[in-house]
Amino acid sequence: MAKVFIGVAWPYANGPIHLGHVAGSLLPPDIFARYHRMQGNEVLMVSGSDQHGTPITVTAEKKGVAPKQIAEKFHKINSKAISDLGISFDLYFETSHENHKKVVQDFFTRLLEREFIYKKVMLSPYCSNCDKFLPDRYVEGECPHCDYSNARGDQCDDCGRTLDPEELIAPVCKFCSSQPEMKETEHFFFKLSAFQKDLENYVADKDYWRHNTKNFTKNWLESGLRDRAITRDITWGVEIPLEGYDDKRIYVWFEAVMGYFSTSKEWARRRGEEDKWKDFWQDEACKHYYFLGKDNIPFHTIIWPAILMGYGDLNLPYDVPANEYLKWGGEQFSKSRGISIAVPDVLKKYDPDQVRYYLSINMPELRDADFTLEDFIRRNNDELVSTLGNFVHRALSFTHKNYGEVPKVKELSQQDKEALEKIETQVTEISEYIERCEFKKAMKSLMELAHFGNRYFDARAPWALLKENREECGTALHVCLRIVKALCIGMYPFLPFSTEKLWVMLGYEDDVSSRTWEEAKTDIPSGQSLARPQPLFKKLDIIEAPEKIEPEKAKEEEAMGVDALDLKIGLIEEIEDHPDAEKLYVMKVDFGNEKRQLVAGLKTYYSKEEMQDRKIVVVMNLKPAKLRGIESRGMLLAAEDKSGTVSLLTPLSDEDIGVKVTGRGLETMVPRKQISFSEFQKIKLRVGTIIEEDKTDMGDKKSGVEGGVSSALSGTQIAIYLAEGKEEVIPLVTESGGFISLHKPVANGAEIK
Ligand code: MF3
Ligand code: ZN
Repeated sequence: MAKVFIGVAWPYANGPIHLGHVAGSLLPPDIFARYHRMQGNEVLMVSGSDQHGTPITVTAEKKGVAPKQIAEKFHKINSKAISDLGISFDLYFETSHENHKKVVQDFFTRLLEREFIYKKVMLSPYCSNCDKFLPDRYVEGECPHCDYSNARGDQCDDCGRTLDPEELIAPVCKFCSSQPEMKETEHFFFKLSAFQKDLENYVADKDYWRHNTKNFTKNWLESGLRDRAITRDITWGVEIPLEGYDDKRIYVWFEAVMGYFSTSKEWARRRGEEDKWKDFWQDEACKHYYFLGKDNIPFHTIIWPAILMGYGDLNLPYDVPANEYLKWGGEQFSKSRGISIAVPDVLKKYDPDQVRYYLSINMPELRDADFTLEDFIRRNNDELVSTLGNFVHRALSFTHKNYGEVPKVKELSQQDKEALEKIETQVTEISEYIERCEFKKAMKSLMELAHFGNRYFDARAPWALLKENREECGTALHVCLRIVKALCIGMYPFLPFSTEKLWVMLGYEDDVSSRTWEEAKTDIPSGQSLARPQPLFKKLDIIEAPEKIEPEKAKEEEAMGVDALDLKIGLIEEIEDHPDAEKLYVMKVDFGNEKRQLVAGLKTYYSKEEMQDRKIVVVMNLKPAKLRGIESRGMLLAAEDKSGTVSLLTPLSDEDIGVKVTGRGLETMVPRKQISFSEFQKIKLRVGTIIEEDKTDMGDKKSGVEGGVSSALSGTQIAIYLAEGKEEVIPLVTESGGFISLHKPVANGAEIK
């Protein structure tokens, strides 16, 4: 009996897992694990929620909740989705667990003692506007390798390369779009360079690795390993086990990989066999397999092995079968059409085995695969239902009806013998494929056996044979049931739910999972009574499919108020005509601590002289946009009424430049994320005139004013925010409480945009 350790990349707990996770990293190891368990091997398969770092905090900040809340919410959702899909982890743990932290801190301490970790002052992007360092995903910019313009500080999603924040070209703060400066900060570094030789030796005999795994690893090694910062200026993550680093945490990637080990220990502890993890981590005969998407390769073939080497006495990865991506670029799965590929949504509509089948036969093993709903439905109907389901159903129902049990074998014809040999060959081939982690080929080979079954059934024509020779017919059906049995065991790792049902139909009283793989080749007991067969798979209706998987989200995102805007008073310092557009001005606007270039379509309404040196109100966190080739980093606010009069917003009394503006009484959301123009448009900003004590005229009605307003200001036009479901209108005010007024009168109720 061999031992097999299976590590599966930890999905970030910042959203529901989707079909990309299933095809890329979750389903392959489950097939592998179920197969090895059937082989009688001892398997430990672990993973969990990756709950730290900027992937979680960025999501939390977007939703305005604590990171812990996001991490826990999606750990729950994803644990359930994973078990509903039948992914059979021995433990699906979470990195925010105390016992994970202990393991991480133990690694840190030992590596520090062994001088594989050291301290160094480095330069890191820092946003003076938000007053914070911008680790990893907090900074975005151009990828230095592929020119992709929206690369993040930790990685470029386009070319897949791992980045350090300081490598980005033209970096901007994710929240306020300001340009960060480089500021000194002290961090701990992992001495990856010390492992260059050992890693080269380690990979030297890994010629069985997939091309991609080898390639990524080779490239890293060839360009020479650099030491890496393994702490961050952030307060969500595993604490550094030393005094004086309260505002820093261990880098999410450095600690998440240790989850493979912490989970093994936790698994052992929960079984009441504290030392059982040693069977997998210290017995050199136990092979370690890691399943993941290609963007995770270097973390598993370079960094994690180096950490393990530094720590000592633990098994290194044996194979790292990384998958390519599952894409859904085609029309079928576009979000705009409201179709979700999040696992909880998908499982509301489809059976787990339907999903498992399609992702096995269309697995992105050596190249990207495309998921389209049409293809999914077609393969389900033509292959799962019409080939596999059809053969199994014909064989079982004909036998059940005419014999009620597994018929006896009288004498095997040449054709029958060939059929039994076919079982042998296919089953052997399938095990070889699975052992080499070639799951798509294994599934193809299984389907070939199902096809063969159909052909054999047709050739033996039991419906005719029954009348001529009942014994010979029984023999043929016995052979058919042998094929069904082989398919049942062979398919079990892929389709665990349906094969359990099929096993019962074959008359067995135990679970197929309790059988061994070798039994796929062995006989089925004659005389075993058969259960009434039910169709195993459902056809899917291609017409009704698309609308059915509704995404759950939509709602959460729309509730965006004026507090999501980063509004500031700026001074127009320079103004010029746009070289290529008749209606546009290009301005340089001063905000005190920074200057920005804005482009605005005001030429029809304002002369340059009228605008020069004027104080205006600017949305700072609008996604930068190019207007006729010139970038605008923010948008100035103006009101426009129905008659087409346009007026700039400007502070009522003299305000310093750079002063913030928001709705009166509203907490400023800090830090704010970048918003799109369409998100901005959903925020209702209007013009009203103060008419009497605490009242404004909004055009279509008179409204009370939040926080009140003195009648001394009667006749003054001000900028108003209309909050959802609120009677009173909210005036926009500066930090010192001053109103925002209009440069020239417009009709009440005019929109501000
Ligand atoms: N959360 C990472 C991702 O989704 C994967 C982490 S794998 C780990 O890319 F094992 F290192 F945790
Ligand atoms: Zn910022």
